Amino acid sequence: MKKLFVKTYGCQMNVYDSARMTELLAPLGYGPVAAPEEADMVILNTCHIREKAVEKVYSELGRLKQIKQTRPLTIAVAGCVAQAEGAEIIRRAPQVDIVVGPQSYHRLPEMIAKIARAGGHALETDFPALEKFDVLPKDSSASGVTAFLTVQEGCDKFCTFCVVPYTRGAEYSRSVAQVEDEARNLVARGAREITLLGQNVNAYRGEGPDGKDWSLARLLDRLSRIAGLARLRYTTSHPRDMGDDLIAAHGDLEALMPFLHLPVQSGSDKVLAAMNRGHTADDYRRIVAGIRAARPDIALSSDFIVGFPGESDKDFDDTLALVRDVGYAGAFSFKYSPRPGTPAAAGGKQIPAEVKDARLQALNALLLRQQEAFRDACRGRLMDVLFEKPGRQAGQAIGRSPYLQPVHVEDAAALIGGIHPVRIDASFPNSLKGSLVSSREKVLTH
Ligand code: SAH
Ligand code: SF4
Ligand code: F3S
Repeated sequence: MKKLFVKTYGCQMNVYDSARMTELLAPLGYGPVAAPEEADMVILNTCHIREKAVEKVYSELGRLKQIKQTRPLTIAVAGCVAQAEGAEIIRRAPQVDIVVGPQSYHRLPEMIAKIARAGGHALETDFPALEKFDVLPKDSSASGVTAFLTVQEGCDKFCTFCVVPYTRGAEYSRSVAQVEDEARNLVARGAREITLLGQNVNAYRGEGPDGKDWSLARLLDRLSRIAGLARLRYTTSHPRDMGDDLIAAHGDLEALMPFLHLPVQSGSDKVLAAMNRGHTADDYRRIVAGIRAARPDIALSSDFIVGFPGESDKDFDDTLALVRDVGYAGAFSFKYSPRPGTPAAAGGKQIPAEVKDARLQALNALLLRQQEAFRDACRGRLMDVLFEKPGRQAGQAIGRSPYLQPVHVEDAAALIGGIHPVRIDASFPNSLKGSLVSSREKVLTH
């Protein structure tokens, strides 16, 4: 057997793609290993979103070069750096054998065969848009209790800071039938929770069984009827695509979990306009109010960028004000990183590093207080926990709360795969601890 090591950077869509690449290479005799030192082939599935993410890839390539100096090793760079940099990667790091973009990785088997036959390098960064999902293996082999399912790819929004429209191409949605087939397959293999993925997942417009375009809300409704599929989530959403039917779905669909990642980036209308986000801070407040009216126990998370070109102290204060108004259970905040080829990198007044640092610190301090408050409020609550895997101690199991928090529970190892009510006894920075209330599985109503 040949040994494959895949390292994944970036977003959940890359996590999904890495799993598909692993499946794709299994018929070629590749089995996964846990470290590059053991591998015959290494795939780096890369992210181009910020400069730091790209630097990490090149430093990993340096490490792999050292391994390759001692024995044969095939090195492939996949993902968004592959798409953005293409042949430049081979120029800068000639130890790389294969460069393959996120829309063309289904061609990996032929690329591997080509370099085995003829040596040299193989490069594939086309956008054969519809081809990939038709060619990928239909039966996903491995599946856990929770699974990702990509339903939408690409982005037409062109936020002025972002590389995704260039690395992932135009928005494209898979058909309802294709998504439903994959979901049924995952459930047959043990999945109880599925997270639908897309760079703009709520811009989903996939062909329905009636030949018309279906929205994400209709797709969720359809999937919620699959027997055995207890939980649904979707990520990442754009505020502009938060349609009324999707907001209503949060109230109507029991399977749809009460936790939503809805990135706002900034609370300043001036900055939002310069980012080309297509909505104001008050639009966002109104959307959040609508979602909370539909599902009062919903918790929200967001992404923020500080130090966007031209961001003044007043603009930053507007972001803090929005955070105070909304109240987040979780968040990711980033210093603006100028990306080559994006409009914001060229124009506007760049913000000095020390100002970005100070703003990031202030924002994170506020967000952390909110996260702690949310976590503390979980203590004493009864939550349905989906048990995923054994914990470190004998008999212990780790599950997920409706809010995606890991929950450690003693004497629950036998319950893995099930959903059970748990009383939350304690909260820690990254997890909760709870005890079983009764071992009776929650009766699903669908
Ligand atoms: N499609 C998602 C975001 C995908 S990128 C959306 O529209 O919300 C994930 C996050 O990375 C973004 O939400 C943003 O906060 C951050 N990000 C993207 N480009 C960035 C850049 N140039 N500098 C800093 N952060 C960036
Ligand atoms: Fe990037 Fe904006 Fe598209 Fe999100 S919506 S992927 S931030 S361009
Ligand atoms: Fe990164 Fe590409 Fe995802 S740039 S965030 S891996 S879409």
